[in-house]
Amino acid sequence: MEKTKATQQVASFLVAVLLCFDTGLCDSEMSSVVAPMEGGEKEALYSAIEGFVGDWWNGSGLYPDPCGWTPIQGVLCDFFEGLWYITGINIGPVLENSLECSQDANFTPSLFNLKHLKTLSLFDCFTSQNTTIPSVNWNKLSSSLETLELRSNPSLIGKIPVGFGQLSKLQSLVLIENSLSGEMPNELGYLGNLKRLSLEGNKFSGNIPSSLGHNLSDLLILDLSRNYLTGSLPSSLGSLTSLLKLDLSNNLLHGSLPNELGNLKKLTLFDMRSNNLSGGLSQSLQEMVSLQDLLLSDNPNIGGNLVEFKFSSLINLTNLDLSNMGLRGIIPESISKLNKLRFLALDNNYLSGSVPSKLEALPSLRALHVNANNLTGELEFSEEFYTRMGRRFASWNNPSLCYKVGKVSRENAPFGLNECRNEKDYNVNSKNKIEEENPDENSRFIASVGPSDNSVSGFWGVVLVQDLVVVFLLVLLL
Ligand SMILES: *[C@@H]1O[C@H](CO)[C@@H](O)[C@H](O)[C@H]1NC(C)=O
Ligand SMILES: *[C@@H]1O[C@H](CO)[C@@H](O)[C@H](O)[C@H]1NC(C)=O
Ligand SMILES: *[C@@H]1O[C@H](CO)[C@@H](O)[C@H](O)[C@H]1NC(C)=O
Ligand SMILES: *[C@@H]1O[C@H](CO)[C@@H](O)[C@H](O)[C@H]1NC(C)=O
Ligand SMILES: *[C@@H]1O[C@H](CO)[C@@H](O)[C@H](O)[C@H]1NC(C)=O
Ligand SMILES: *[C@@H]1O[C@H](CO)[C@@H](O)[C@H](O)[C@H]1NC(C)=O
Repeated sequence: MEKTKATQQVASFLVAVLLCFDTGLCDSEMSSVVAPMEGGEKEALYSAIEGFVGDWWNGSGLYPDPCGWTPIQGVLCDFFEGLWYITGINIGPVLENSLECSQDANFTPSLFNLKHLKTLSLFDCFTSQNTTIPSVNWNKLSSSLETLELRSNPSLIGKIPVGFGQLSKLQSLVLIENSLSGEMPNELGYLGNLKRLSLEGNKFSGNIPSSLGHNLSDLLILDLSRNYLTGSLPSSLGSLTSLLKLDLSNNLLHGSLPNELGNLKKLTLFDMRSNNLSGGLSQSLQEMVSLQDLLLSDNPNIGGNLVEFKFSSLINLTNLDLSNMGLRGIIPESISKLNKLRFLALDNNYLSGSVPSKLEALPSLRALHVNANNLTGELEFSEEFYTRMGRRFASWNNPSLCYKVGKVSRENAPFGLNECRNEKDYNVNSKNKIEEENPDENSRFIASVGPSDNSVSGFWGVVLVQDLVVVFLLVLLL
């Protein structure tokens, strides 16, 4: 609503400017059609941006009317009680005319004087000179800031300021691909309006604060992946019942999955890949009934028996990655009831028994990895299955598994597997050959690419659309 209003206001100013020029009546009175702003607001804007983009940028010279007829790319305004205020600052190489940070970019204190600032986004900004996030003044933005996004800033170092806990309106805290470190402050748990907390790709260490579970009942996305977090998962995470995506992959987490996670009935993505979990396939996994992506691979000590796991409750499962988990037991036929399954990886475990031929009936299956286990016997799939899957059916490194010529021609035979002959000689010298070719590299690649199209696009899309509308109006009117 406010944004539409803002656009209308801008439009009416543009119309006023146009009339002015056309009639030639008010050339000497330009100031009367300038979007009215507090002097301090304008100064704070110029100085904040100059801090990021460099001293060469003369805001007052280039953009005398930043909320009117000289809009700044990436800067948003809105109208409050008769005056215009800055509501958004987005800096970074997104469009050709976007503002970009300079080598010595820095946060200036005047940034915090923008009392209606809702969005601050700095992308690809701090890249050469070590910079820290200011530790003070965040309280000044506590009643306005809704989105804080600092992304791809390799020289942004230091900790998350405790003061972030005062940003009580914050809905989205996105600190991706920086060099931030230290522990996540407990105070993040105060942010009761948070919908997205994305801290992936930094150097955070220590435990995941249990405070996160106590108050963030609106949280939809929690992504702490690719850090150095240790300890076990706090059971309080089970209270985040709105959660849709929980990604803690690529950390150093250990311990078992808390039962409370079973309360996450809306969760569609649960990614714990590459940690050091233990305790088997917890009951709670079966209770997260909305799961589409269940990704637990590369937790070699988790263990457990696949047969004990009831897959039937997870009817929407699309990507199931259970490779390299120390799993034992047989592959249960019940997996073949997961009709939406596209990617199934059970490789690099200790699974035994046969490969259920019913898996062929999965209508959407695009990749099936059962390689590097202890599976035995004859594969019963049809030739059509092997031709459809190619190398995406991985069954090598199962010394006692074989295929039968007659059921499938040699040219379409499963890669790296021996033909069934006499029961005794089919596993001779299969192993060396396979290790030379190292086909596992491919299967790992698919595993990491498979479910990664889950990223949620931020507000940039919205920003761009808004800016385009303004630009379009300008073009149209002038
Ligand atoms: C910025 O531009 C204004 C107006 O053109 C001019 O008066 C002022 O001297 C400039 N400031 C700098 C630092 O160049
Ligand atoms: C920048 O910070 C990193 C991490 O704290 C440190 O290792 C590095 O030496 C610093 N570089 C400079 C130029 O200060
Ligand atoms: C929970 O969040 C609300 C804001 O929604 C805040 O006022 C309150 O202090 C928070 N409580 C705790 C225990 O963090
Ligand atoms: C992983 O956890 C096991 C215990 O489950 C422990 O023995 C091992 O040292 C841990 N590995 C790493 C790399 O932390
Ligand atoms: C499964 O997906 C369908 C279609 O997207 C959806 O309507 C249904 O609610 C989902 N079921 C569960 C248990 O999440
Ligand atoms: C593989 O299975 C055979 C019996 O089928 C068993 O003797 C052997 O110990 C198993 N190996 C592993 C690594 O589980």
